[in-house]
Amino acid sequence: MKNKKITRSITQGMYVLTTNGGGCVVDAVSQISSGDNPLISVAVMKNNYTNALLHENTTFALSVLGMNVDGDLISTFGLSSMRDVDKFSNVDTFDVMGIPVIKDSIGYMICEIVEKQENETHTLFIGKLVEADVINEDKPMSYGYYQEHKEELLKTKTEKGETAWICTVCGYVYYGEELPEDFKCPICQVGKELFKKKE
Ligand SMILES: Cc1cc2nc3c(=O)[nH]c(=O)nc-3n(C[C@H](O)[C@H](O)[C@H](O)COP(=O)(O)O)c2cc1C
Repeated sequence: MKNKKITRSITQGMYVLTTNGGGCVVDAVSQISSGDNPLISVAVMKNNYTNALLHENTTFALSVLGMNVDGDLISTFGLSSMRDVDKFSNVDTFDVMGIPVIKDSIGYMICEIVEKQENETHTLFIGKLVEADVINEDKPMSYGYYQEHKEELLKTKTEKGETAWICTVCGYVYYGEELPEDFKCPICQVGKELFKKKE
């Protein structure tokens, strides 16, 4: 038996991963070594624009999202692609070592990429922590909290008479009476069976 559902109970946080030219929301972040030179890993989907950018850059930033983060920041960085929209046009950032850091965060970590591992769906980028700071004392948001509250966080609206289908994995919303036959979530690629109907 391989009940993959249990992997969803691995506790993770909520971050905006940025590098030169783009960024996206990630939860697949771990500290994999500590001591004087902590190592941080982040798994980035191969079809994300941010993945291509990370292959061209040497440094990334992780902005840690707090419990009071604006849900619009999550939709901008997590539910749309820099291929289609300029994610930075309505978001306040400041530069650290040339990388944009999200102001609406509780702190940041700047990492220099020291290793990459190509896996089936994601590339694992391992970075050496080179600079970091705490911005405020808000509590970090967990991925589990996001999953439980994503409808109110993302303020999913259904116009009168319009049906919304919400991806239970990432929160992407499809508007329409029925999901197309071979529909896959454009953000996280899961099938239509993982969408929940909201009328
Ligand atoms: C809550 C949440 C968690 C996510 N976690 C990850 C993750 O760990 N790794 C990843 O590659 N994408 C993750 N995503 C998906 C990307 O943020 C999303 O595909 C984004 O639109 C990619 O943008 P880009 O094409 O500009 O890189 C997550 C999205 C959400 C909403």
